[in-house]
Amino acid sequence: MAIVEAVSEMSTTRSSVWLGAVLFVATTLVHSQVTWTPIYVGSYSQVDLWTQTTNGCACSFNSSSNECACCVPSGGCSCGAASPDRCAQCGLEQYCANMCNITLDSRQLFSKSDRGFGQIKSPSLEGPSRCTYRFVPDTGQRVELQIYRLISIGRHNGTACEGGWLQLEGGGRVCGLNERFDRPVVLFSDRSVPILHMQINESTTRSQFLAYFSFSSKASVSVGWPVKGGDPKNNTECDWIYKDTDCLDGCVLASPGYPGLYPPNIRCLYSITSGPRMSIAINFTAVLLPEKHCTSDYIAVYSGSTTSSPLLKMLCFKNKTSLTYSGRKLLVEFRAGPEVPPFDYNGFVATLNFIEITTEAPTTVTTDSTNKSLDTTKPINAVGYNVRYNNRDLQDHRKDQGSISSSCDLEVHGEKVRAGHHDTRGKLKSTACRLVLRGRAYDTGHVSLASYNLSAQGCQSSIEVFDGVLEGGMLSTARSLERICSPARRLPPEFVQQDTYVEPKRYSSNGRDMTVVLRRSANSPADEEYMDVSYYFHDEREGGTQQPASVCDVEYYGLTSPVKGTVVHPEPHRLFAMEGPIKCRQHFIPAANQSVIIRVESSSKHSPNNPCQTKCGDSGCNCVSNMTLESVDHLLLVSETGHIVTCLCGNYQDWLPVGIRSWTPVYIEWSRSSKAGLNFRAAYEFIKDSYCGYHTTTKPEGEVNGGDLASSGLKLNQFYQQKCTWILDSLTDRQLTIEVKSTQSRPCTAWNLTIHEYSRNGDPAGPRLYTFCSRNTHKNFTLPWKTNTVVVRLQALGRTAPEYTMKWWSQSVIANTHKSGPSPAPNHVLSSSAGNGPREMRILILFAMLLAYAVGC
Ligand SMILES: *[C@@H]1O[C@H](CO)[C@@H](O)[C@H](O)[C@H]1NC(C)=O
Ligand SMILES: *[C@@H]1O[C@H](CO)[C@@H](O)[C@H](O)[C@H]1NC(C)=O
Ligand SMILES: *[C@@H]1O[C@H](CO)[C@@H](O)[C@H](O)[C@H]1NC(C)=O
Ligand SMILES: *[C@@H]1O[C@H](CO)[C@@H](O)[C@H](O)[C@H]1NC(C)=O
Ligand SMILES: *[C@@H]1O[C@H](CO)[C@@H](O)[C@H](O)[C@H]1NC(C)=O
Ligand SMILES: *[C@@H]1O[C@H](CO)[C@@H](O)[C@H](O)[C@H]1NC(C)=O
Ligand SMILES: *[C@@H]1O[C@H](CO)[C@@H](O)[C@H](O)[C@H]1NC(C)=O
Ligand SMILES: *[C@@H]1O[C@H](CO)[C@@H](O)[C@H](O)[C@H]1NC(C)=O
Ligand SMILES: *[C@@H]1O[C@H](CO)[C@@H](O)[C@H](O)[C@H]1NC(C)=O
Ligand SMILES: *[C@@H]1O[C@H](CO)[C@@H](O)[C@H](O)[C@H]1NC(C)=O
Ligand SMILES: *[C@@H]1O[C@H](CO)[C@@H](O)[C@H](O)[C@H]1NC(C)=O
Repeated sequence: MAIVEAVSEMSTTRSSVWLGAVLFVATTLVHSQVTWTPIYVGSYSQVDLWTQTTNGCACSFNSSSNECACCVPSGGCSCGAASPDRCAQCGLEQYCANMCNITLDSRQLFSKSDRGFGQIKSPSLEGPSRCTYRFVPDTGQRVELQIYRLISIGRHNGTACEGGWLQLEGGGRVCGLNERFDRPVVLFSDRSVPILHMQINESTTRSQFLAYFSFSSKASVSVGWPVKGGDPKNNTECDWIYKDTDCLDGCVLASPGYPGLYPPNIRCLYSITSGPRMSIAINFTAVLLPEKHCTSDYIAVYSGSTTSSPLLKMLCFKNKTSLTYSGRKLLVEFRAGPEVPPFDYNGFVATLNFIEITTEAPTTVTTDSTNKSLDTTKPINAVGYNVRYNNRDLQDHRKDQGSISSSCDLEVHGEKVRAGHHDTRGKLKSTACRLVLRGRAYDTGHVSLASYNLSAQGCQSSIEVFDGVLEGGMLSTARSLERICSPARRLPPEFVQQDTYVEPKRYSSNGRDMTVVLRRSANSPADEEYMDVSYYFHDEREGGTQQPASVCDVEYYGLTSPVKGTVVHPEPHRLFAMEGPIKCRQHFIPAANQSVIIRVESSSKHSPNNPCQTKCGDSGCNCVSNMTLESVDHLLLVSETGHIVTCLCGNYQDWLPVGIRSWTPVYIEWSRSSKAGLNFRAAYEFIKDSYCGYHTTTKPEGEVNGGDLASSGLKLNQFYQQKCTWILDSLTDRQLTIEVKSTQSRPCTAWNLTIHEYSRNGDPAGPRLYTFCSRNTHKNFTLPWKTNTVVVRLQALGRTAPEYTMKWWSQSVIANTHKSGPSPAPNHVLSSSAGNGPREMRILILFAMLLAYAVGC
């Protein structure tokens, strides 16, 4: 019964599809940039692609009956006795009733049905189940699929497809409980023999889909394969290599499956290498990524060969761009997150050209001549014009053709722009070029000189970095941080061998403003003098307090930073042009009576073949790797004492959330080796928490209850490391008794309470006198007479919070009026240490340190 229903439902769908298709008659349809040419534009009256009417024609299996379906004369073949009222594509008749686990061979189908396209109507399956459709395209063909209808093929849970999907290898993945796509979901694959997987991983009563397939010509303008000139990188899913020598008449880059939906959770790298004296011009002519998924679906362009090279452009949603770059290496990274309904995005296509830098540079000449006035007003500058047409110079002019005539001064306002770089090459050549950073109220400015060239002799040219702004030539408000005198130069990173590369120095302002000035010598040298400065603004209310000595260390203070917030991996601009290993620390410093909770919550998926794996267990998470930790990207949670609580690397997402609760400073250390670095996002919160705060009391008696912690704070599986110290002192001679109780029965190493002699220097806990373990259940410790100061310390290490009650009380003895010699103790316990004489008269309870970690494993 279910099958009959399914078929009739599919028929309804089909006719509506065709109705739509007829209206649009074979035109290429453009809807929010997705190009869609219907595979088949049928006639109204037909039942389906191959069946003209359900009856009225001679039956192949019964010569005396005329009650069988009439098939399309070319390409349609009767389904036979099994379904006398239906026809199918010739070559596929045997699958009329069960179109599952089949091969669709382009050549075979064409020879039998004279058609290079057809339809797939899956059988109605009860899940869990699966079907595969193997496509064998002919030479010069790619596989195209248009999906119109889904019934119980998984569902989208807001993040990804769950329970089932339809995925074309090398193309996208779709799912849906009950979807009619009036504009079909379009998928393409360029694999040699792609397989369409219908995967149902949950129990369903009826799972089915309807799609049209086509073996399209790779050369077609609308449905062909746009990629041109590159070489696929061996053993990678979608990485490409583009070289200038292969792109003499232009290359094209595209996302996998373009112009169809791209596969989920992939990362493609397009490495572009130009020859000497070439610049790279890349134009993203179509970009369509899902809206509001900029963190997972984006295109990043780096000016170098790795993703740790400086980021030039970041594109997402519909942003298009074109840029010209004069370096030798450019890297385009395309990243895709999970699929997003209604599956109406399709990635990007970009043209790539290598522009040879000739000795003639018309743009340069025109620009210079249009601004002759400048040259004449500054005659010294004009002298060297002819000489300056050396290769380097011309190349530089190619770099930024759009802004060639713009001034070499730049003023950046923190409200609008937070980071960038300023290159004076290709700008007007005045004798002074300024970069002025004007930050917002809480900003500080940060710059580094990525590259520069000062060729004049004897400090005739210079670059100077100022903290502040040079108002009207008055230097009084600005402080010089650095002055670089000519001759001096720093090559751009792409010209430096990786192993000899040294990070540029970073300069930071104290206030919101900053200035960098390039002063060029009067004698224009053959070599252009320039500076290329990277900059960013930092607002410590948003990003923590920046540490002057490091590029990316920040501090969050319990009292001055926002109480709650989110931190992420360092943003690329932060790291400037840094290649190679780098560490960034985000410190969290709770105030007295505060603790901080940090929870690593999410990160995007990383490469499948990661050399490092995260393993979590009773004592936190560890990084397990063949290689040294220094050479893999990882993340550490570290306590103030340097104790590594947790190490995360590789695809650590499965272990999340991972957290820490601490009463003392802790930090997240993000380490990048030479690669892109891990992504992470962590939430932090400073909370009022006096449990292990700093307490001073002179009370002769008191009580501490350690069980309170168990019920507060984290709901995760917990891991505690605690170290609390109490100093008990007295103003008068006394007999001190300490009573400790616990209802737990844990090993001594899990937690214990120790009583120590007081030590005046350094750690107050001197030699140990007694130990209480939770298995002792209940114990009274009576200290020797006149042992007025003792230290009680709690140490814990484990997944459960220690539960205990500690009470202390003092007995003053009348005999304390003795003027000489120790009086006999009422309860003699430790006479040998009783002769230490009076100690400082003080009762102090010092909760020195307590750390609790919660590790979600
Ligand atoms: C062939 O069709 C005729 C007419 O519909 C029918 O009477 C006859 O039983 C059929 N023969 C077979 C073998 O099905
Ligand atoms: C298709 O083949 C797979 C194995 O290749 C099998 O598990 C599955 O049950 C088959 N599907 C149907 C509907 O027969
Ligand atoms: C959605 O499904 C994916 C894949 O099964 C899973 O990883 C993810 O956690 C789910 N998200 C939600 C919000 O349930
Ligand atoms: C779906 O089911 C197949 C076969 O039962 C299994 O190999 C695959 O891992 C499952 N996938 C998911 C995401 O559960
Ligand atoms: C990729 O593999 C092909 C054939 O397996 C080989 O000819 C080619 O040289 C390889 N390319 C690279 C860059 O290794
Ligand atoms: C980039 O391509 C678009 C569309 O083809 C074109 O309009 C634009 O002029 C190109 N930009 C550049 C800088 O070539
Ligand atoms: C990207 O496009 C959005 C609007 O679609 C626009 O607001 C944003 O400024 C663009 N970003 C870039 C970098 O072009
Ligand atoms: C020439 O330079 C002057 C001074 O920098 C500037 O104001 C003017 O706009 C420039 N003219 C052109 C055509 O670029
Ligand atoms: C360790 O290194 C060897 C060789 O370098 C490699 O075959 C193996 O897979 C590595 N193991 C892990 C866990 O990375
Ligand atoms: C400890 O001392 C208190 C008060 O003197 C007493 O009530 C309690 O029973 C004692 N506990 C033990 C285990 O001796
Ligand atoms: C007390 O506990 C700490 C931390 O759990 C442990 O390192 C130490 O060895 C323990 N001391 C004794 C005496 O068991």
